[in-house]
Amino acid sequence: MNEPLTPEPVSLEPATLLLDGNQYRLPVVEGSEGERGIDIAQLRADTGHITLDPGYGNTGSCTSAITFIDGDEGILRYRGIPIEQFVDSPTFIEVAWLLIFGHLPSETEYHSFSEDLTRFANIDEGMKHQFEGFPRSAPPMAILSAMINALSCYHPELHELEDEHELRHAAARLISKIRTIAAYAFRHSRGLPYIYPDPSLRYVPNLLHMMFSLPYRQYVCPNLVRKAMNLILILHADHEQNCSTSTVRMVGSSGANLFASCAAGVCALWGPLHGGANVAVLNMLEQIHRGNITPEEYVRLAKDKDSKVRLMGFGPRVYKNFDPRAQMLQKVAEELVPQLSGDDPLLEIARRLEEIALSDPYFVERKLYPNVDFYSGILLRGIGIPTNMFTVIFAMGRLPGWIGHWWEQSQMPGGRIARPRQIYTGNGLTDYLPMERRP
Ligand code: SDX
Repeated sequence: MNEPLTPEPVSLEPATLLLDGNQYRLPVVEGSEGERGIDIAQLRADTGHITLDPGYGNTGSCTSAITFIDGDEGILRYRGIPIEQFVDSPTFIEVAWLLIFGHLPSETEYHSFSEDLTRFANIDEGMKHQFEGFPRSAPPMAILSAMINALSCYHPELHELEDEHELRHAAARLISKIRTIAAYAFRHSRGLPYIYPDPSLRYVPNLLHMMFSLPYRQYVCPNLVRKAMNLILILHADHEQNCSTSTVRMVGSSGANLFASCAAGVCALWGPLHGGANVAVLNMLEQIHRGNITPEEYVRLAKDKDSKVRLMGFGPRVYKNFDPRAQMLQKVAEELVPQLSGDDPLLEIARRLEEIALSDPYFVERKLYPNVDFYSGILLRGIGIPTNMFTVIFAMGRLPGWIGHWWEQSQMPGGRIARPRQIYTGNGLTDYLPMERRP
């Protein structure tokens, strides 16, 4: 059995629980950055009680050594490295290696992994026919999830991963081919011919080549765009136990293979409250731009619980100060969008919304700040990525995080299938009623 990838937390003085006149001692643990948790693994066996925490806002599902978030300080670190340090020399592929294997790649590892990504960029010709089975209007996230699962049918040798060597092969195929699948989903939606990956191009330029080149004119990726897209993928690469990553761990805990687990992660990410928010933000900004509603009116609606409207791109709860990713993406958008596509009125509307919300007690008291989705859509739009592909780009960025978490969990000693409990509030014992006796 491999050494656990995740160091054990430190044990502190146990907590005491008084319940029904009994005292129970519950272990307390502390992580490497001082996060503390009460270990309730024996709670039901000892007390007959479970905890209740819908949305798991107060519940740790695991220990992990991949990403650290300090929501109060606006800190986000990948394997201890602050994300701000990836701005100047961003290569998404070295961050992917860092998240999956736990260290920055050596030069040899980096070049060898890059060569694997180039070698594995093509998809089986049989998979192309599957694209034809989707209507052109099919949501690209539906295609992405389906085709990641389809990919596993061409790689049965990667359903069981025994060591990091096999993990590396599976990771390289997934990270490389998700790019081709994404590009082909886009081409299919536009009725355009598929463009083969170009082995002379690096990760991002190859994606944009497959998306935007035409048989008679090759797309050439500007250096500014290459840097911005690398940073966008890096900033989306992991975010500890968010909804989609928890889904990947949950599905993987049943022994499901890496492809099936990541396909499930795509589905979780698709939701407008999660990765789908970058599309919802653009729709919100365009709705305001069309003049249907003013920024002030939109913020007022977002505060009104009955409106069912939320200020998309604001929240979630993990950041009670600011999301460092939003700040970094805003800076890149301010610099890049005017150069790429001229002044974008949506950027001005986004700034106005942020200004109004951050001076409104409703948002300040709830510590709701712009998140990674608030500016990413404006930046992707400036690069020329169509709105319906925004969440697909998010999934491409988040894939290394999913892979790292899936592998970390698979290597945990005594790993158990995830199976939460519930508090039942339905009918008591009830007899079956034959049809003729029903009202
Ligand atoms: C991502 O988990 C992650 O790490 C996610 C992510 C990642 O990298 O994986 O960071 C990526 O998914 C970012 C979030 C993208 N979603 C959106 O931008 C959609 C808009 N945001 C919200 O729907 C909301 O903030 C969520 C879904 C993100 C979080 O919802 P919660 O769990 O209900 O938020 P909460 O418990 O912190 O809410 C506290 C209060 C509630 O009001 P009260 O009951 O206290 O009166 O704040 C309100 C919420 O109604 N609230 C909002 C709001 N977000 C929370 N009110 C208006 N607009 C919002 N955006």
